[in-house]
Amino acid sequence: MRVPFHFLIGVLSLGLLLVLAACNPQVPEKKSTLTGGGWMSNSAQNNFVGNTACAPCHAKNFGSHQRTRHMQTLHDTMRSDLGENAPPTGMIPGEIKLGWLEEELVIITSEKDTGEEINVPLDLAFGSGKTGITYIALEPSGCLEMRQSYFPHNKQKWVVTPGQENLAATTVGQVHDLASTQRCIGCHSVTKPAGQLKPDRSFYGVGCESCHGAGARHVAAREAKTPFTREEIVVLREAGGEKINQVCGSCHRTAEDVSRMGASAKKSTGRFQPYGLSLSRCFKESKDKLSCTTCHNPHEDASTDQKQYEKTCLSCHSAPQKTCPVNPKEKCVSCHMPTRPLSPNPNFPIKMADHFIRVFKGGKPTR
Ligand code: HEC
Ligand code: HEC
Ligand code: HEC
Ligand code: HEC
Ligand code: HEC
Ligand code: HEC
Ligand code: HEC
Repeated sequence: MRVPFHFLIGVLSLGLLLVLAACNPQVPEKKSTLTGGGWMSNSAQNNFVGNTACAPCHAKNFGSHQRTRHMQTLHDTMRSDLGENAPPTGMIPGEIKLGWLEEELVIITSEKDTGEEINVPLDLAFGSGKTGITYIALEPSGCLEMRQSYFPHNKQKWVVTPGQENLAATTVGQVHDLASTQRCIGCHSVTKPAGQLKPDRSFYGVGCESCHGAGARHVAAREAKTPFTREEIVVLREAGGEKINQVCGSCHRTAEDVSRMGASAKKSTGRFQPYGLSLSRCFKESKDKLSCTTCHNPHEDASTDQKQYEKTCLSCHSAPQKTCPVNPKEKCVSCHMPTRPLSPNPNFPIKMADHFIRVFKGGKPTR
């Protein structure tokens, strides 16, 4: 029998639990203003055209963006969509059984009284697979976010989803309300039809229009060859640090977003980069010149070439400007933007670079 996840409440034979919660308990977003859906999500749905409409005229950006984790961050849970990131099925930690039903990923359990097999389809897989992939089951009222996340490239494989650490070990997952579910999907896709939770497939992932806004008007204008105006598409070239922090921060979180979260979020200067960066003197004292795009190409993944970042640091920190008294030439990032696990647990498998650029002494930040 194929059933939506709410059916699990009260009919389980395995002692599986569902926990109802409005939001991530670790970082409660009090009165969030996050629209979810990137910063341009207020545009009418029918003005979005999808990345492929941009391809004929912007082949280079289309090509590089297509390969990014931004583009890979949302999938259906069909085995073919998950590809090499499809999880092994059978029993997983928490006494949960996973399986394939008509090639779709499901939680398998049985009805308490009749013993009949129950399959709860998992509708969406979040995360590109660089670190964790979290599965959710959808219902009109919200979603169930699984407590176990799959880490395809980590030897541990199944790790507790961040924010669900305090739930009992056999909890299937946390139930999010409708608004919270919409935010979730909003940050991992471009747009979705009104009154529907699931986006159309052409809008899965962070697309061109997540940053440049709805593109219908621009495409029509370029086809008609009228003079270009800045009203037809969001031009981000030459935008300053504050503006770029707003755009990227609509998903990566700005200082304002973090001020509405719990106390632990304030330490998350690695996870919430626009917030972290905004605290550093480099950002505050360089007159809007330092932005995410000073170091990252927005149409590519983060470079892992440390030399490239060094060059950027040195563009502001070479004589006659103040230079580093410890190492004025190289390895800047390892000392001033160290990569550390997101959780106090040193074995936690997600590590991120601290975007609060500052001086560390004996491993401790001096600010
Ligand atoms: C029919 C061709 C065509 C299509 C389709 C098209 N563009 Fe453009 N786009 C152009 C041209 C030509 C310009 C340059 C206008 C100028 O500067 O005179 C441009 C400019 C831009 C700019 C501003 C570039 C700058 O100078 O910083 C952005 C951003 C942009 N396009 C994004 C998109 C996105 C996103 C899509 C898909 C939704 C898209 N374009 C679809 C032709 C096209
Ligand atoms: C619509 C939401 C959204 C917006 C807007 C957005 N991002 Fe992201 N970004 C994400 C998500 C989700 C991921 C995680 C991708 C994954 O699953 O690995 C991500 C991942 C990244 C990564 C990591 C890629 C890697 O190498 O692992 C970088 C770098 C990044 N974003 C930079 C930016 C920058 C710079 C901007 C603004 C110009 C921006 N993002 C705007 C949602 C967004
Ligand atoms: C405000 C925007 C936002 C919301 C809401 C959001 N995410 Fe994300 N998510 C991101 C960004 C940005 C990243 C990449 C960087 C990071 O890890 O913070 C990401 C990364 C991820 C990853 C990759 C692993 C990881 O933790 O880095 C998973 C899995 C994920 N999100 C699942 C979810 C699920 C499930 C929900 C809803 C319960 C959700 N996200 C809600 C923005 C968001
Ligand atoms: C994560 C946010 C983000 C996404 C996704 C994104 N862009 Fe951009 N785009 C930017 C930013 C920021 C700039 C300005 C870069 C700079 O200042 O160098 C930019 C610049 C541009 C430009 C002008 C400069 C250039 O490189 O030619 C064009 C054209 C463009 N983007 C098109 C696209 C298209 C087409 C897509 C989808 C295939 C896309 N962008 C996806 C953020 C994004
Ligand atoms: C756009 C210019 C710019 C870039 C790029 C830049 N910085 Fe800075 N940075 C500044 C300014 C301005 C200050 C404050 C005045 C000063 O100390 O020169 C500063 C201050 C600092 C400080 C002192 C911080 C403190 O708390 O006292 C460190 C350390 C630093 N930068 C390291 C780096 C590193 C490492 C990089 C590359 C990852 C980098 N900066 C990139 C402009 C920049
Ligand atoms: C081995 C670790 C290490 C490396 C590598 C390193 N730094 Fe530093 N840096 C430090 C420490 C420690 C201080 C604080 C020195 C002090 O106050 O005695 C510092 C201070 C600074 C300052 C503040 C100077 C001042 O007087 O306010 C800047 C700017 C800076 N570093 C930039 C850089 C840049 C750019 C690079 C790469 C070219 C770099 N650092 C490489 C450890 C390092
Ligand atoms: C001064 C340079 C610099 C700036 C500015 C910068 N980043 Fe980064 N970013 C880095 C470095 C260095 C890494 C680590 C790359 C690696 O894996 O070696 C990184 C990695 C990332 C990642 C991947 C996760 C991780 O930490 O490995 C994301 C997401 C990201 N940056 C987002 C942003 C966003 C959003 C902004 C703007 C608020 C931004 N960055 C501004 C240097 C920068």
